[in-house]
Amino acid sequence: MDAYLAVVAKREVREYLDRPVPEDVLTKILQAGRATGSAKNSQPWRFIVLVDREHRHDLARAMMAPRNLDRCAVAIAVVLLNERLRFDAGRVAQDMMVAAWALGVGSCPNSVRPDEHDRMRQDLGVPPEAAVATIITLGYPAPGQPRPRPTADPEKIVAKLNRLPLEELVHREHFSG
Ligand SMILES: Cc1cc2nc3c(=O)[nH]c(=O)nc-3n(C[C@H](O)[C@H](O)[C@H](O)COP(=O)(O)O)c2cc1C
Repeated sequence: MDAYLAVVAKREVREYLDRPVPEDVLTKILQAGRATGSAKNSQPWRFIVLVDREHRHDLARAMMAPRNLDRCAVAIAVVLLNERLRFDAGRVAQDMMVAAWALGVGSCPNSVRPDEHDRMRQDLGVPPEAAVATIITLGYPAPGQPRPRPTADPEKIVAKLNRLPLEELVHREHFSG
């Protein structure tokens, strides 16, 4: 799929088919994370792949949206080794989600409830100086959910986006109005 199309068409998918994501597809998604740039190439992230259904069910209680983790096919917890580098966590998560979309796989970033973060960290064996930046839930989209369409026209998608218009987002030379 064209990179521009993948970036503008990627929507969050929160309902998934009961169909596993093949290991080679999952590996490509993880490679997209691995390839992501970071400050001084520090790669301040680690990825925990969560496949086991019971494990995900237990972890789901700690999430803002438990259902996503409970019902997905597989999830990737993005562990940030240095909490100051939040920009890098966003980059790596989005790269994996856009790559997944281009491979036909839906995804959603998921926040851990702040009051459950310590428990989540302990449960996953994440060291105290690190943080669980997000948990990406993944799976093939259920009927009615947004889905990747490789032949879609990106301009039509851009025209319908529920986002602020460029006129409001973009400034030239200085921030104004
Ligand atoms: C930092 C961050 C945290 C998010 N946390 C959740 C979450 O806990 N659960 C959820 O269902 N979606 C979560 N989302 C997804 C947003 O709701 C979504 O990106 C936004 O509504 C745009 O969705 P769209 O691209 O499908 O229009 C999160 C997004 C970001 C960037």
